[in-house]
Amino acid sequence: MSTSEIARHFPIESQSSDRDKAFLLSAMRLMGDVAPGYDYLEIGSFLGGSLAPFLVDPACASILSIDERGKTLPDERGALFDYAGITTQSMLDRLHQAGLATAKLTTYDGPIDTMALPERRYDLAFIDGEHTDQACFRDFLWALPMMEPNAAVLFHDSSLIYKAIRLIALYLRKEGRSFAFLKHRDSEMSAVFLGRFAQLDLGRYFEAGEDRDEFYAASEVTVLEHSIRNRVRSGSGAEPLGSFTIDPPKAVKAYY
Ligand SMILES: C[S@@+](CC[C@H](N)C(=O)[O-])C[C@H]1O[C@@H](n2cnc3c(N)ncnc32)[C@H](O)[C@@H]1O
Repeated sequence: MSTSEIARHFPIESQSSDRDKAFLLSAMRLMGDVAPGYDYLEIGSFLGGSLAPFLVDPACASILSIDERGKTLPDERGALFDYAGITTQSMLDRLHQAGLATAKLTTYDGPIDTMALPERRYDLAFIDGEHTDQACFRDFLWALPMMEPNAAVLFHDSSLIYKAIRLIALYLRKEGRSFAFLKHRDSEMSAVFLGRFAQLDLGRYFEAGEDRDEFYAASEVTVLEHSIRNRVRSGSGAEPLGSFTIDPPKAVKAYY
């Protein structure tokens, strides 16, 4: 997909790369084919960048955007990310400014675990709220009962919340749920396909995914590197850390 085509679908600034956006568009195309009239749930919308393509997709019937607004968020990178000042109204204004109709959009200000279970069941969810493993795992646990049995859940910043993804895979296996996991190569997007969606020919919509163990191993290094850069100082002053090397875990005798 060309850069200009991606830009046309995403008129609002979004904290994601072109490959991330292309993956989202592939998921949207999949939904249009296998669940026309689908309902979309988004956790973490910021200014509405990732909502925009769904607002114009005629196959998307309704959208629920859940966002705990105005917080300074912890993050697995070891820094706090300040979202103060961006309200639901800021997002609606930005969407209208871009000429997008919001009639099919419902919003909820707050974390998903404070919300009553809606009657509607969603076909597609995108989790892009607080980027800690605990918050992402929580978002998934609370979103799951809101989903259709055949559904897809997408994750952004997958390398930051890779431990949540590991726990989600473990939980789904324990529950005996049929699922398939896909990590988009050279991108921060990944997806869990549930029920019959796990058996779809996903290659028609998505490139072959990254090896799951390689993704976990690379993510561990990424998170460590960010945490060290953000939280470790050299010496007693505030000097930035110079270069450093992260080794694989060493084997240590556990008993003598
Ligand atoms: C990375 S931004 C989302 C970006 C958006 N999906 C996009 O592509 O433009 C993260 C958003 O999560 C929201 N947020 C923070 N805590 C949250 C929570 N507990 N549940 C849902 N959203 C949360 C923030 O307010 C912020 O708008």
